[in-house]
Amino acid sequence: MTRIFSAIVSIVASIVLLFVLNIVGDIIYAPTGVASVKPDSGEMAAAPAKKTKETAEAKAPAKAEPAKTEPAKTEPAKVEKTAAAAPVAKPAKRKRHPGKRLYLRKSCMACHGKGGARAIQNYPSIAGQAEKYLVTQIKDILSGKRVGSKDENGAMRTAPMTGALITPEGKVRINDDEIQKIANWLSMQPSAKPKPLETALSDDQLKEAKALYKKKCRSCHGKGALKPLKNYPILAGMKKAYIVAQIKDVKNKVRKNGKIKSMVPMVKKLTDEQIDLLASYLSQIERLK
Ligand code: HEC
Ligand code: HEC
Repeated sequence: MTRIFSAIVSIVASIVLLFVLNIVGDIIYAPTGVASVKPDSGEMAAAPAKKTKETAEAKAPAKAEPAKTEPAKTEPAKVEKTAAAAPVAKPAKRKRHPGKRLYLRKSCMACHGKGGARAIQNYPSIAGQAEKYLVTQIKDILSGKRVGSKDENGAMRTAPMTGALITPEGKVRINDDEIQKIANWLSMQPSAKPKPLETALSDDQLKEAKALYKKKCRSCHGKGALKPLKNYPILAGMKKAYIVAQIKDVKNKVRKNGKIKSMVPMVKKLTDEQIDLLASYLSQIERLK
């Protein structure tokens, strides 16, 4: 009994450690963020993405097998890597993108994760979307033009964000210029890695999903959900639960902002099963660099 308890304590401690490392890593990695602003810096941009995978792998077993102490073993490796990576990143010494600083200061990271690519819960990862799309969505959410259905806790889906960025007196804690800078920085960040499904799609399901996508979605969201029309969102690799919620919100005319109206006829007749299938498929598409 005590053994199980101490195993649980050590797992919780590992998760806390990972979280702290992420924050520390973010500070250490500051110059990397700036470097990835340059379109030609594919190498630098790739580094944080790799780290994301490592963290995800280290975290996953901790959750899946709470009875074993093994996951703790992955910790030292991670510490070494983080420490070893720091001196490599340092010599780059460039000014930080103001959008990155604002992203941290305005607490976006608490929900959307490091670099906008490690969002918590079913919140959307926002790295690598078109700048203009990001600006519009942020403004629409803050102004109340974009709302959402209720989540599993009975709160409106956009409420966490408005709660964090609007004071109880109704003052918005971020101005247009700051939104622009954050969106500019986010649009250049490497996108999130797909989160594996609990049950992978069968070949038949995949075929069906692709056909449905081609028929109903591709005209706007592009081939393979990777190359949408200008300033439309890239769907590839988004979290499944987020995609499901958004399609349903569009279908039920809860989300009505921006150019979404054109999408309504395409989702109006989709069944829950079809929505689930499409979201499963889309969530597994690896984004291009
Ligand atoms: C307390 C949590 C929280 C904070 C802090 C937060 N957001 Fe969000 N954000 C959300 C949630 C939840 C959604 C999704 C709402 C929905 O499901 O309709 C969202 C949606 C978005 C979207 C739309 C994504 C899309 O694909 O359409 C953008 C862009 C965004 N947030 C940017 C930001 C930025 C920039 C900041 C900091 C200035 C920020 N958020 C702070 C929780 C948060
Ligand atoms: C006629 C064009 C069009 C078609 C067809 C279309 N969409 Fe969209 N979709 C949009 C637009 C435009 C937006 C963003 C709206 C905005 O500006 O706020 C969007 C947004 C979304 C979002 C939310 C993305 C986010 O980051 O929040 C999802 C998910 C989505 N579409 C899925 C689909 C799926 C699945 C299909 C096919 C069944 C589809 N769309 C068909 C135009 C379209």
